[in-house]
Amino acid sequence: MGYVIATANMKGGVGKTTLSVNLATCLAKYHDKRVLVLDLDTQISATLSLMSPVEFAKRRKVRKTFRYLIDKIINPDQKLQLTIQDIIQSPVCNLPGLDLLPGDIDLYDEFVVSELLHKQALELGENDFETIWNRFERVLLGKILEPIREEYDFIILDCAPGYNLLTRSALACSNFYILPAKPEPLSVVGIQLLERRIAQLKDSHEQEAQINIQMLGIVFMMSNANLLNARYYKQVMQRVSQDFGDGKICKTQIPVDVNVAKAVDSFMPVVLNNPQSAGSKAFLQLTQELLQKV
Ligand SMILES: Nc1ncnc2c1ncn2[C@@H]1O[C@H](COP(=O)(O)OP(=O)(O)O)[C@@H](O)[C@H]1O
Ligand SMILES: [Mg+2]
Repeated sequence: MGYVIATANMKGGVGKTTLSVNLATCLAKYHDKRVLVLDLDTQISATLSLMSPVEFAKRRKVRKTFRYLIDKIINPDQKLQLTIQDIIQSPVCNLPGLDLLPGDIDLYDEFVVSELLHKQALELGENDFETIWNRFERVLLGKILEPIREEYDFIILDCAPGYNLLTRSALACSNFYILPAKPEPLSVVGIQLLERRIAQLKDSHEQEAQINIQMLGIVFMMSNANLLNARYYKQVMQRVSQDFGDGKICKTQIPVDVNVAKAVDSFMPVVLNNPQSAGSKAFLQLTQELLQKV
């Protein structure tokens, strides 16, 4: 059975996407896993980390992005009929086992979704709009992924920062979530906010169906023990381990490494582009650690 793993933090710029694409690549390349990356952020960083902008533009023109699959749920009578298999790019980065469901700069219109759900509520004579909304977000992503869920060992969901409909839907259909964080106070606040939201999400859906997501671990990204402020970083990390327990913090940290950021220029993650770099070695080790936890 495969696992769905969401990479999430309320805060942006903490390394969610970098972790998603490098973890996915390590799983495919070094562990022979079949892996799908789904880009849920309209900044499309995961998409552009695995495919060139030219390739993306070509696919977007023929509607082969995640947006189409959401459109199809909102309005099933599409002129063009595509399946999720038509939209998945397989493989990406010339790496067998590594697939991408490309994201889009424009995923859905909140107003259209609200209108649809309002209409459904009226038709069903259901006057509890919240119940309809909750049901929609709980099943949305699960429904989209259902036809291919069995085809992968891992499906990695790269969430947007904040807490939008798609993040909630991702958390509702995932087995695990990973929380990348920078060792700095605001990033730690992002962890606490997300934790609180997930507890609320579990509560609000309890009556309909249980949400069983578990935290796989907190990963400190862009930490650098050699910096002068190492002591300060350490204090922050100690605070997190007091709050969440040592077991939740991954032993492997990802160091600051310019090769990690530069890899985007080559349209492939650093673990492929520069496997000998410090960042790549750390991602490889982290992948092993996370596999053990799973
Ligand atoms: N270990 C690292 N060393 C150097 N730069 C990094 C590292 N990890 C991420 N970055 C850079 O930091 C920025 C934010 O990372 P990203 O993964 O896009 O964060 P998020 O998805 O949380 O917004 C990107 O420009 C990325 O290339
Ligand atoms: Mg991102």
